[in-house]
Amino acid sequence: MSGSHATDDTLLPTEFCETLARHPALTRLVLTGFMGCGKTTLGRKLAERLNFNFVDLDALIEKNQKKRITDIFASEGEAAFRQYERNELHNVLKWEHYVIATGGGALVCQENLNHALDNSVVVYIQMDTHDLLERILFSPKERPLMDVPNPQQVIETMFVARSPFYEQAQVHVNTLGLKPSLATEEVLKSLHNYVTRFLPNLPY
Ligand code: S3P
Repeated sequence: MSGSHATDDTLLPTEFCETLARHPALTRLVLTGFMGCGKTTLGRKLAERLNFNFVDLDALIEKNQKKRITDIFASEGEAAFRQYERNELHNVLKWEHYVIATGGGALVCQENLNHALDNSVVVYIQMDTHDLLERILFSPKERPLMDVPNPQQVIETMFVARSPFYEQAQVHVNTLGLKPSLATEEVLKSLHNYVTRFLPNLPY
């Protein structure tokens, strides 16, 4: 093995994923975390490994509103976007065998967060502000909240304000320095630990 590329050796066995996917606590999985932490990429990979479907909440909003997120922010404002986000979140939290990637602000509202915690396993994809900044600066125009003159300061302030919400997730995974393929395996391991530790009476 070289670097942090996943190889057949580092991939968890298929049976491990199949057993995990059958666990009754895993009807659906919600990924949360700051903008730029890689929820969409990881979500797609996790769905593949678990043989679940995948949905990205922002993409669903764009499809149903027939507008880009940036246009919704520009023409209708953030409050309208948050209302669409809330509605779509409640909608997808009824779908079975789904990995759901949410926007960084979707669970920064106790009502939305509680609803997700009650109806899914919520996974916090952790990353520090330094790495987040690097990733966000790559495409700031796609993120209306980051299209500002002082993104570093905004990220740091938002990080402090949002962390108490993210930290309520049932599963925390630090993916710092990991390529998406390896980060996916880390999430799978953490999920396994969570379901076996907290639901030990089930035959898994
Ligand atoms: C937002 C994050 C974005 C998107 C919108 C608002 C936020 O999604 O939902 O721009 O408030 O953190 P990503 O986390 O996928 O960038």
